[in-house]
Amino acid sequence: MPSVPPLPATPAEPATDPAASAGRELPEDGSETPNLDFQGTTPYEDYVKADVLTHLQHLLSDDPGEMVFLVTTQVMELWFTVIVHEWETAAGALRRDDIPTALAALRRSEYELRALNASWEPLAHLTPAQFNAYRGALGEGSGFQSAMYRRLEFLLGEKSASMLVPHRGAPRVHDELAKALAEPSLYDEVLRLLGRRGHAVPAEVLERDLTLRYEAHPGVEEVWARVYTGPQEDELVRLGEGLTEVAELVWRWRNDHLVATRRAMGAKTGTGGSAGVSWLEKRARRNVFPELWTARSHV
Ligand code: HEM
Repeated sequence: MPSVPPLPATPAEPATDPAASAGRELPEDGSETPNLDFQGTTPYEDYVKADVLTHLQHLLSDDPGEMVFLVTTQVMELWFTVIVHEWETAAGALRRDDIPTALAALRRSEYELRALNASWEPLAHLTPAQFNAYRGALGEGSGFQSAMYRRLEFLLGEKSASMLVPHRGAPRVHDELAKALAEPSLYDEVLRLLGRRGHAVPAEVLERDLTLRYEAHPGVEEVWARVYTGPQEDELVRLGEGLTEVAELVWRWRNDHLVATRRAMGAKTGTGGSAGVSWLEKRARRNVFPELWTARSHV
């Protein structure tokens, strides 16, 4: 993680030479203002790339409401990127049996998921006429084609090789997705760790084809039921609860998306070619980390 370069120190004494104090103002109370004088771009720009970020809004219509649609989508892509980073960190830590590092990454991702979900607000109240004002300009563009969302789903265990197909024309994105498809998901790493800790995770689960969608297994449900029946301060219970929090927040994102879509376009077909709301309803019904939900009936 790069650190923010320190701002150039400002002198404690007021500069006497007007040339030396160029770009620096001294207010009446004598306190110094921030540095104004930089060679080239500012250290802030060098780190944040704000100039790039704030010039990526290439609108496709003249409708004033399109800007917030595009920026909300871009903001969500950035949150997807952060959350993928956290879950990859958590998966890597679990592989090394480092539960505290995994829990810290999961906890950060909970807060990030809440911020992601809060960013629905500007799009949650669109009328069909407001959405129609720029919908045609989107052509066949759809969030369905978001590669970062797909990586996020792959990390949850929702693998699907066919989701690589739309990205054949973008080698970097395709390679990243192909790698994520073949790697163990966050949940696979959790189950492997449970196995190493002596829990009876079925061999067919531990040796499963990682490129396929994870399917719930009664043996894993039993493992979670046993973990949850034990001491509540056990780190495996805390891990289970961290994952449950993540699963619930993902479910909320999907449902907020579904409701926003229902408000903005009713039962029309999607720009991506799906049946629209009825297709999203099916997707939103799925439970992430399924046995963490069903095991609760047996505790
Ligand atoms: C009111 C605004 C929105 C509407 C009406 C809408 C509509 C839809 C529809 C109908 C689909 C199904 C695929 C299709 O046929 O296009 C879809 C999928 C999707 N949308 Fe949106 N969407 C909206 C906003 C967003 C935003 C802001 C994002 C953020 C990136 C997003 C991300 C996604 C994703 C990731 C999928 C795929 C879901 C899956 O595979 O289960 N959508 N959207």
